[in-house]
Amino acid sequence: MSLADLLSRRLLFTVGKGGVGRTTVTVALALEAVRRGKRVLVIEFEGARGLERALDAHRQARDPAPGLDRLTYLAVDGKRALEEYLEMIIPVRRLLRTIFDSAIYQYFVAAAPGLKELMAIGKIWYEANRADAEGDPRAANGNADDGPHPDLVIVDAPATGHSLQYLRMPQAAHEAFPVGLVHREAERVLSLLRDPSKTGVVVVSIAEEMPANETLEILAGLEGIGLQHAALVVNQVHAAPCSEEELDALRREAETVEPLEAAASDAALFVEAVRRAEEESGWARINATHVARLEAATRAPVALLPYVFCEEFGPEQVREIGRVLRARFEETSASAKPRGVGRGRAS
Ligand SMILES: Nc1ncnc2c1ncn2[C@@H]1O[C@H](COP(=O)(O)OP(=O)(O)OP(=O)(O)O)[C@@H](O)[C@H]1O
Ligand SMILES: [Mg+2]
Repeated sequence: MSLADLLSRRLLFTVGKGGVGRTTVTVALALEAVRRGKRVLVIEFEGARGLERALDAHRQARDPAPGLDRLTYLAVDGKRALEEYLEMIIPVRRLLRTIFDSAIYQYFVAAAPGLKELMAIGKIWYEANRADAEGDPRAANGNADDGPHPDLVIVDAPATGHSLQYLRMPQAAHEAFPVGLVHREAERVLSLLRDPSKTGVVVVSIAEEMPANETLEILAGLEGIGLQHAALVVNQVHAAPCSEEELDALRREAETVEPLEAAASDAALFVEAVRRAEEESGWARINATHVARLEAATRAPVALLPYVFCEEFGPEQVREIGRVLRARFEETSASAKPRGVGRGRAS
């Protein structure tokens, strides 16, 4: 699969354990899509601010990425989405205010299991379908963003458990309400989510024991709700700076450095560099073990992204990640390997 294939969908979700790089991958994908002329809406759930902050940094960068004017941001709030929905089906404003202000409504929204999640996914469905939604009352309602409809919606989903909760909701609602309005709404959302030509889940992981375990659980969880993941991105992969033999030779040489000599700056630098090389090689070995486990668990393309060393991870690093992502996907589609793998060093 090429990156163009992935970005040709209507809706992408970036899911993964906390801190693995979901926001980074979301922004990198969005920048790639706008660079290709698409209009992109990126979404995060109300309360999360990581994506908004990352985008602000890109907009304020000295040398902003091309196409940023085609990128818009939305924070989706399940409660607000429910209100919008009710506004659509109950057009009497005064009645609505009374409902929204009532203690019973507040209690219902807080207590109904999964209601906010369902409404949030419904809102995402609506945004992803605006191109086709001309006949939908929500389009006439002009509720959210009256600009041109996006070609692609990318959702920076919350950390694992919560993401699956959101994604599971349409199916749960579909089963819980065998007929009626909720059933029909859930069915519409499900048919989009389960159509691999329109929706793709990009799972982001890092290649360490616990995060990889969690990623395997995510893959199983997605399958359990009938969602195929479109790609697996393994982020922050360390590469060995030299071969094991070279490392051995360096290590032996470093051991010959006398303590007094080690105080001298050149020798100290050498000893320190060897120590760092050992550390990097150690991480590279750990990463390789868990990359292999992750690869064995998926038939989707796997793209490895390098650990980027920098003083401060910011827009420039995200753009670098985007370039690598593009190259990795091109590799996987060019070499029609049974399992696409973006291997090797970053640069
Ligand atoms: N490839 C990388 N190389 C080095 N550091 C990285 C890389 N990717 C991400 N990071 C670091 O990890 C941090 C978290 O990344 P990011 O915000 O994308 O993760 P997240 O999964 O969205 O986290 P959260 O769960 O907090 O939303 C970044 O601020 C950056 O410091
Ligand atoms: Mg994030």
